[in-house]
Amino acid sequence: MSRVYQPSDYVVEKSRLPSFEKYKEMHKKSLEDPEAFWSEIAKEFHWQTPCQPGKFVSYNFDIDKGDIFVKWLEGATTNVCFNVLDRNIRNGHGDKIAYYWEGNHPDDYSRITYKKLLDSVCMFANALRENGVRKGDRVAIYMPMIMETVICMLGCARIGAVHSVVFAGFSPDSLAERMSDCKAKVLVTADGAWRGEKLLVLKKTCDQALEKARTKHNHEVSLCIVVSHLGRVKPCGKMDDIKKLYDWNYNVDVWWHEIMEGQSPICAPEWMNAEDPLFMLYTSGSTGKPKGVLHTIAGYMLYATTTFRYVFDYREKDIYWCTADVGWITGHTYVVYAPLANAATSLMFEGTPFYPDNDRYWSLVEKYKVTQFYTAPTAIRALMKFGDELVTKHNLKTLRVLGSVGEPINPEAWLWFYNLVGNKRCSIVDTFWQTETGGHVLTGLPGASPMKPGAAGFPFFGVEPTLLDESGKVIEGPGEGYLVFSRPWPGIMRTLFGDHARYQKVYFSKFKGYYCTGDGARRDENGFLWVTGRIDDMLNVSGHLLSTSEVEGVLTEEHSVSEAAVVSKPHPVKGESLYCFVILNEGVQFGPELIDALKKRVRNRIGAFAAPDVIQYAPGLPKTRSGKIMRRILRKIALGDTDIGDTSTLADPSVVDELFKSRP
Ligand code: WTA
Repeated sequence: MSRVYQPSDYVVEKSRLPSFEKYKEMHKKSLEDPEAFWSEIAKEFHWQTPCQPGKFVSYNFDIDKGDIFVKWLEGATTNVCFNVLDRNIRNGHGDKIAYYWEGNHPDDYSRITYKKLLDSVCMFANALRENGVRKGDRVAIYMPMIMETVICMLGCARIGAVHSVVFAGFSPDSLAERMSDCKAKVLVTADGAWRGEKLLVLKKTCDQALEKARTKHNHEVSLCIVVSHLGRVKPCGKMDDIKKLYDWNYNVDVWWHEIMEGQSPICAPEWMNAEDPLFMLYTSGSTGKPKGVLHTIAGYMLYATTTFRYVFDYREKDIYWCTADVGWITGHTYVVYAPLANAATSLMFEGTPFYPDNDRYWSLVEKYKVTQFYTAPTAIRALMKFGDELVTKHNLKTLRVLGSVGEPINPEAWLWFYNLVGNKRCSIVDTFWQTETGGHVLTGLPGASPMKPGAAGFPFFGVEPTLLDESGKVIEGPGEGYLVFSRPWPGIMRTLFGDHARYQKVYFSKFKGYYCTGDGARRDENGFLWVTGRIDDMLNVSGHLLSTSEVEGVLTEEHSVSEAAVVSKPHPVKGESLYCFVILNEGVQFGPELIDALKKRVRNRIGAFAAPDVIQYAPGLPKTRSGKIMRRILRKIALGDTDIGDTSTLADPSVVDELFKSRP
């Protein structure tokens, strides 16, 4: 049984929610009377017209009763940009710093106040309007982590245009496909950006993508706005003349600074309906083309604001840092909308944790006196490899809340984060959520929730999680099954752009009446929820349902293992067996002794049925650019089947060959 960690006095003191009892009370209230709960928070915002009486929330989750829909605050009109900027300025936060910006090179940094941010957003919004962008039009964004990215997103929100951010690591093909699918009118990008010592020439990728959109998808983007970024930062590696790195198409391309010139810093917001779209963001589907997840105005704003406030226990003078790229949902909600809605001060970082040294994250926490640090387990595991001294040499005593997101965090990484980075006194919030959920749905709350290493914890306000078995029967009390939700919270997605039928099929058809996350979860004897990974990562060994991440957690407890990935391999007697890939820490020898030790450890920790059949040494793992392991490919390697299909979304396709070579 895992040890339970209670929030320290340091965290509980002054916490906005200082006890678990209080959390339970609020959670109960949020389910019993959603309107009373959320309208209290809605009062803080500006509504141009109020919500119609009796229309606060309506939905249908049961496909047999008709089309699936979710609506919050029907009839109300508002503007998200107005609420996250103008409203805060009216409340006296105009001179407060909205963002500290730190470039890839440590010599590049700046800051921007709420007032200054509003001026720039209005100028850009006016420029968009001048170029024919109207309410409902889609604007594609392919940008590095710079201030203009935020300005651009909020500029869209101000005039009711729908932004569609594509992570600036995607290939020209992927960008072309996404721009064409949403029929983007405009693309916004930068000439390039440094990631460590590597130069990304974003404009060149955009040129190729615009060409492919035209020729392959018959879609013409009429305007490409380009931020001139490379000229204003220090070069971090070798670089030719910037202008020679890409072409300039005078019919389409225009410089950001040129269209901003002479624009007024005043721009009337477009008053939007509560259920008008705010943005769309593509997420990968298990089959076929990417899914354009669509979020709407009012519900998303309420939910983002509330989760941020409670999950990070945000206080007025805090300095908050989320390391996620704006190209992912974590960046949308917890780098842009939620912190701004709370008038918070954030750090936005352009670079990588490994440049110029492997302690960049810790040196930034020290430099900016960060109070909340929100990152991903994959980053934590990568940083653990370099030893403790890189952490301990920095003063991290301002930290109060540590966040984790993106995958289940293995207990080894959790303990390292807790003990070393958090110095045993910070609370860790393991936030489970998805592009589709808009904000955190399962998580701990810093001053209130007890913690167990590796458990996501408890439902956020308004969220009612249910575990179902294969036949759709509800699992009460302790047990493991499909994680589903029986009712909507304000921030849940409303549809897939242009494909409501697919939305209904993917999320609402497996279990009638429920939103299906596609993840498995376990409820333990204390009511903690443990997300066990995607359902397709579950395996059944001799009738025992096992989650791959559970086994991975055990493997990485071995000090010599830095990362592990486990897949299922068909087995004639057991049905399925465990095939494990392990990445080792520097200087560790792979051999029969280590294999034995690892097998024994799994057998001891989980049970004899869980003992792995194969442990393979892995020089690296096939990961997507967002860091997700592509288990589909690992399953092929386990089988020795070289027909692995499409590898275009891999960050580094060469690891696949290496893994085939290192098969035992
Ligand atoms: C996984 C990222 C366990 C999960 C915000 C989910 C997690 C998918 C956690 C969504 C967590 C995310 N614990 N698993 N704390 N957070 N996941 O859409 O499988 O990029 O379904 O959203 O990541 O990934 P997405």
